[in-house]
Amino acid sequence: PGEIKKVSMAVIKRLPKYYKCLGNLLKNNVERVSSQDLSKILGFTASQIRQDLNNFGEFGQQGYGYNVLQLYTEISKILGLNTLHKMVLVGAGNLGQALANYSEFRTHGFDIIAIFDTNPNLIGRKINNTPIYSVEDMEYFINENDVDIAILTVPKDKTEKVVEVLSKTCIRGIWNFTPAEITTDDDTDDIIVENVHLIDSLFTLSYRINEDKLQERLLKQKRKIFP
Ligand code: NAI
Repeated sequence: PGEIKKVSMAVIKRLPKYYKCLGNLLKNNVERVSSQDLSKILGFTASQIRQDLNNFGEFGQQGYGYNVLQLYTEISKILGLNTLHKMVLVGAGNLGQALANYSEFRTHGFDIIAIFDTNPNLIGRKINNTPIYSVEDMEYFINENDVDIAILTVPKDKTEKVVEVLSKTCIRGIWNFTPAEITTDDDTDDIIVENVHLIDSLFTLSYRINEDKLQERLLKQKRKIFP
């Protein structure tokens, strides 16, 4: 594996799929895999796969395929999964509680070490063993504990205020579930924001279940115009 070049976002977005697939292969004691095999499992073309993986150095060998463990390890490094990430969750409502109860994050090295809220009925309680503290203590806690990532599940109109506080901390990434757009001004310049919109995924699903009908309609229209 040679030096890592700047890789496009499209490739980065496919990496978790490679990572999961290689993890499954490892579990099944598969030592090597060809781009054709990966193509059958993942549904990308073999040439796409070779191109994607070429970004990270020379893993494949003609006639041998890829060494599964080596590729898995390298991708985990690229995704930063070989280090433990400390996270806090801000807003312990419906969505926040669901995320805090999901233990898989920890399995992958993303550890929610504290939850912050303003609701006195929640402060002092625990979710999935993680304590809920007052948001007033958030700035101090994050800096004291070198937290990397903040998960934002507060109401939209509270987001700006929370981000203002976060920008005074050592937080490096915000996983933003709120509909609020987080603008990166001078203060928050070095904070990376990743937005999650479940509704986008639902729209895609909607498009896909309507796709056939859409094709039919287009065909009918064409027949009308060109009988
Ligand atoms: P919720 O009202 O159940 O929970 C919000 C929590 O934030 C409450 O516990 C509240 O006490 C707390 N809170 C309010 N101000 C705060 C502050 N300044 N600091 C810390 N905590 C504070 O709301 P729900 O349903 O859990 O939604 C949370 C957010 O997630 C909303 O912005 C909602 O629009 C968004 N959402 C996003 C989805 C997505 O796909 N990205 C899906 C569902 C909700």
